[in-house]
Amino acid sequence: MDIAFGDWLNLALRWAHIVTGIAWIGSSFYFMWLDAHLEKPAEPREGVEGEIWMVHSGGFYQIHKIDVAPKKMPKTLHWFIWEATFTWITGALLLALVYYLGARVFMIDPEIAEIAPGVAVAIGIGAIAVAWFAYDALWASPLAKNRQGLANIVSLLALAGFAFGFSQFFSGRAAFIHTGALMGTIMAANVWRRIIPSQQGLVAAAKAGTTPDAQLGIRAKQRSVHNNYLTLPVIFTMISAHYPMTFGHNINWVILLALFAIGAVVRHSFNLRNKGRKGTGWVAIGASLVGFIVLIVTASLPKTGAGDAQNGPVAFAAVNNIVAKHCVSCHAKKPNREDFEEAPKGVMLETPAQIRQWAVKIRKQSVDTKVMPLGNETKMTMAERALLGRWIAQGAKIE
Ligand code: HEC
Repeated sequence: MDIAFGDWLNLALRWAHIVTGIAWIGSSFYFMWLDAHLEKPAEPREGVEGEIWMVHSGGFYQIHKIDVAPKKMPKTLHWFIWEATFTWITGALLLALVYYLGARVFMIDPEIAEIAPGVAVAIGIGAIAVAWFAYDALWASPLAKNRQGLANIVSLLALAGFAFGFSQFFSGRAAFIHTGALMGTIMAANVWRRIIPSQQGLVAAAKAGTTPDAQLGIRAKQRSVHNNYLTLPVIFTMISAHYPMTFGHNINWVILLALFAIGAVVRHSFNLRNKGRKGTGWVAIGASLVGFIVLIVTASLPKTGAGDAQNGPVAFAAVNNIVAKHCVSCHAKKPNREDFEEAPKGVMLETPAQIRQWAVKIRKQSVDTKVMPLGNETKMTMAERALLGRWIAQGAKIE
């Protein structure tokens, strides 16, 4: 594909993905909030479960929640399905464009697993499909009905298993995005396969004047609760590519799971608060998890700090050689590779001044973590990374 066209397509898809994602998660947060704040109607009205008054922008709104289903269907009934659908479609296309078409650069890290691009793509798509069918079967089974706690534990262990598995095959970035895509797919499939069909069941029953199957409603509610807890973890995975200290870590899957736990805990404490209960204990758990992550990340950073700075000055010529060998094939005004038409992210490392300008980011990408060189085809060594780190610690001097 023409690279400039690919970039424009990337922008269009990402833009649409974020907008539809906001619409989806935003409306779902709004309805959660609404449900939690409904009050008994001031004057009891037949068939009305709760009501709420709100003021927003230029007007007042009064909303009633109907008990189960209306006796008579309104002329226009709004459904909420396109937000989830388009979020998923744009996300899947973006995943394919960035990671599957660029598998060699973005999915494969030869230090983790030397697999062929086709194999990487098959693992990615296959795992997501398996995860959905297994999850759906589990939560439709008698086990989930009778032993919900156990089903929760099995689901969480399976999620941890997938996160770990991805980290054994893919680059850190691709492992994180696949764990997110897996959860996002489960959320969207929950909407299509369980939540909307149950709403259709309610509507059909209301139209026919029969009692709707209670089981449909219960199952839909359960899936909605799952989606609710998945939202914050999924959103983290979508922004994770900006944070190499998370996905570039040796045990990146542990960090991912700890961050998921924080997201779910925050969600839980909000849910409790919406129900009028305090969730301070959960906030404490969240804070401890943050501490845990900071601790493992900082404890494992290579020691390129002040101690090493005294360890004899590093000559810039040595730094220049390393960058020329491992970075410039991509990070040049005119990259010397067919995958890139211009310097990725505008980072050019051809002149001493440019190398100095990017020193802090170079440390993040190539010293503190092994994210760059992407794919490490040139097999950059730890000694070379340490040398770059020392040069930066000594003030990144170019004379
Ligand atoms: C195979 C091509 C390739 C090689 C080789 C490579 N990079 Fe990169 N680099 C990229 C791409 C692609 C991106 C943009 C990643 C993204 O989209 O987030 C990038 C981004 C960066 C960024 C910006 C990160 C950010 O998020 O702002 C820095 C800094 C960087 N690389 C440094 C280096 C250094 C230092 C080396 C050599 C040790 C190197 N790169 C080698 C392809 C490469």
